[in-house]
Amino acid sequence: MLSNDQIHVMIDQKTLEDKIAEMGAKITEDYAGKDLVMLCVLKGGVMFMTQLAKSVKLPVEMEFMVLSSYGNKLISSGTVSIKKDLDNDITGKDVLIVEDIIDTGRTLSFLSSYLINKGASSVAIATMLDKPSRRVVPVQPTYTGFTIEDEFVVGYGLDYAQKYRNLPYIAYIK
Ligand code: IMP
Ligand code: MG
Repeated sequence: MLSNDQIHVMIDQKTLEDKIAEMGAKITEDYAGKDLVMLCVLKGGVMFMTQLAKSVKLPVEMEFMVLSSYGNKLISSGTVSIKKDLDNDITGKDVLIVEDIIDTGRTLSFLSSYLINKGASSVAIATMLDKPSRRVVPVQPTYTGFTIEDEFVVGYGLDYAQKYRNLPYIAYIK
């Protein structure tokens, strides 16, 4: 567990949610007339997914996947596996991956290819946060909330040892 003086607000709730609303408006425009599936990568993407989806004024489908992640470590293991797969066929659908943060890019590089192989007619990424300086595999999100420095962050879905996902803002740990 962290003490309160180790947790510092980086992006407050209003700033974050105003940006998410903007992203939702843009997605609404871009996906008009398409068959949009918003695919949340659990658990980290859950708060962003629910907030973003409310701003998308289209009849969307929601899917949820669980991929292997960091466990309780601050560093990535390098391999990705599927712990919970899609429930429905995505053949011919326009899939928008909804992710909390892109770090090395390994997770989304793997997932993007997986979805194309499953027959998605398009795959794009909406990420709440991006840490481009950490990239190992090239991944380019179409929609980015905030680009941040190489800091470990928690809140709004992001965890440290499974805790702090429920913070309504983004904080960095120091
Ligand atoms: P990637 O495959 O390295 O891009 O890892 C992405 C995943 O690692 C994210 O979906 C997060 O779950 C986790 N992650 C990366 N950076 C952070 C962070 O600063 N705080 C919490 N989780 C993180
Ligand atoms: Mg994640």
